Amino acid sequence: MEDLLRNLVKKNLGKTKLGEVANYIPELDKAKKDALGVYIYNIDQEEFGAGDYDVKFTIQSISKILSLMLAILDNGEEYVFSKVGMEPTGDPFNSITKLETSSRKKPYNPLINAGAIAVSSMIHGRDAREKFQRLLDFIRKITEDETLDVNYKIYCGESETGNKNRAMGYFLKSQGIIEGNVEDALDVYFKQCSIEVTAKNLAKIGLFLARSGKLSSGEQVISTRIATIIKTLMVTCGMYDNSGEFAVRVGIPSKSGVGGGIVSVVPGKMGIGVFGPSLDKKGNSVAGVALLEELSKELNLTIF
Ligand code: DON
Repeated sequence: MEDLLRNLVKKNLGKTKLGEVANYIPELDKAKKDALGVYIYNIDQEEFGAGDYDVKFTIQSISKILSLMLAILDNGEEYVFSKVGMEPTGDPFNSITKLETSSRKKPYNPLINAGAIAVSSMIHGRDAREKFQRLLDFIRKITEDETLDVNYKIYCGESETGNKNRAMGYFLKSQGIIEGNVEDALDVYFKQCSIEVTAKNLAKIGLFLARSGKLSSGEQVISTRIATIIKTLMVTCGMYDNSGEFAVRVGIPSKSGVGGGIVSVVPGKMGIGVFGPSLDKKGNSVAGVALLEELSKELNLTIF
């Protein structure tokens, strides 16, 4: 397996030239464009890695699946999905258009920015600090890594440049989708995007979902029902407005982030973490997606 991963990294490294590192937030553009790494934890506790799997980067949108788990634990499935839909949009992740024009009157799904900001507002806690601390503790538990923390430079960049996210937050408040304090919801959202992880951490999150919400210790942290909801939304909405093509080409429930990370879940088999900060036009890791496509073919991992 390690040989296969090493070959896949080598073979796809050149594809990092085809994309660009995200630069719409100061500091994100400091990532090394030609970095590429992959890590796998399988259900039998074996682990394999190649390339830059130990390099830190910000989790970004991948945090949206974790805040969704906690929001459902805190509020129940019915409440959460009364505020946010379950449908893909076909629009970019930060699009604002459907918020007002659609008859739906709620964000289409929890993995676009508008939906994720609404989800962050639902995490229980007295204030932004307590809400975020609960989320960070939850993510530390799932990754089994107590050292995870926020990159404060990136958090400041997110907060200073996040005007469109603010606009969506206030719109959601005006519609009654956000019931609490909007600034608290935005602060939790900006902070959760700025948590630093490695591809290895992402593989652990993937393994957690591959085990339907169980830790290595055997503790069931989320119900199998919640794990199923998350995996299904990863298939339909996890790779932004490229989720359909990704499902055909790779066929593994996955979630990407503009930091260059991808977490993939092969149910009952393994968790995969990928890091490659050079992004395609939709915001997905260009070499990372290519690597996953070949890995999926090689090991016949498609769930379809
Ligand atoms: O600008 C933002 O909201 C980002 N920091 C979102 C992160 C991301 O990966 C894109 N999302 N779907």
